[in-house]
Amino acid sequence: MRLRDLPLSRRLLATGFLVALAAAFLAAQVNLQLQHRSADGKPGMSYDDVVAAFHGRPGSSLLTSKVSPGGSMAKQLPNPADLETLWHWVEGGAREEAFGPVSEVLARRCIRCHNPGGEMRQVPFAESRERGPEFDKVKPLTNPDTGMSWASLAKSSHAHLFGLATLFAVAGWIFTQTGLRERTKAVFVTLPFVALLVDVGSWWLTKLAAPFAVGIVVGGALMGLAFAVLITVPLWEMWRPATFGRAT
Ligand code: HEC
Repeated sequence: MRLRDLPLSRRLLATGFLVALAAAFLAAQVNLQLQHRSADGKPGMSYDDVVAAFHGRPGSSLLTSKVSPGGSMAKQLPNPADLETLWHWVEGGAREEAFGPVSEVLARRCIRCHNPGGEMRQVPFAESRERGPEFDKVKPLTNPDTGMSWASLAKSSHAHLFGLATLFAVAGWIFTQTGLRERTKAVFVTLPFVALLVDVGSWWLTKLAAPFAVGIVVGGALMGLAFAVLITVPLWEMWRPATFGRAT
């Protein structure tokens, strides 16, 4: 039985599911932009953000990249000499003995937000606004940036695989009830699963080697395409005006 001939209640059920799926997909895009767009320290989502998010940037620490030109904290450190002080310290291994000059810069430019009562209370540099910066609080920000942790990768992977596989199965099932040719349907029910595996697989590979980020971009784009087709074709078939196409 074709989608178009289903009783109203079933068409509404399928429609509700597909519209909610489209909304979820848009929300996922917004989330992606907000989470990763400045992973490389520069505003706007780019290929470098993908590499930075998954592979990290060896040789660069969070502390120095954020305050360097283009980084989101650069405006907090307008004096090049202060920036030089931070870079010099991190490049020298961020040793506690050499923390003095850095502590002075942080106290002057950063503590007002980076304290437990400040705007950036999540990442405090000191116990309170009045106290000086503490080495132990700042040191972790100087570790080389190695991108997403294996634990986050595993968590994100299983959530995406379980969730998207289920959604693609249901959407794909609805899609097989459309009037398209069997071969076309075969392509578009397979595509999302292939794209999903390429995408998630590339996350892990990119963690190991940056060039695999291409797979994340390609996999993600193919998934978007698959989503668009699986959602729009059934909706169109169910609700198109009778004057379009044959009334079978
Ligand atoms: C006006 C308030 C403010 C000042 C001043 C400020 N920051 Fe920030 N900082 C923030 C906010 C808000 C964020 C989170 C958004 C972001 O990452 O851009 C942040 C994030 C950061 C991060 C990333 C922390 C993480 O774990 O993601 C670093 C590193 C950082 N700031 C360093 C500095 C340094 C160094 C200075 C001083 C030169 C400084 N900040 C001054 C508000 C401030």
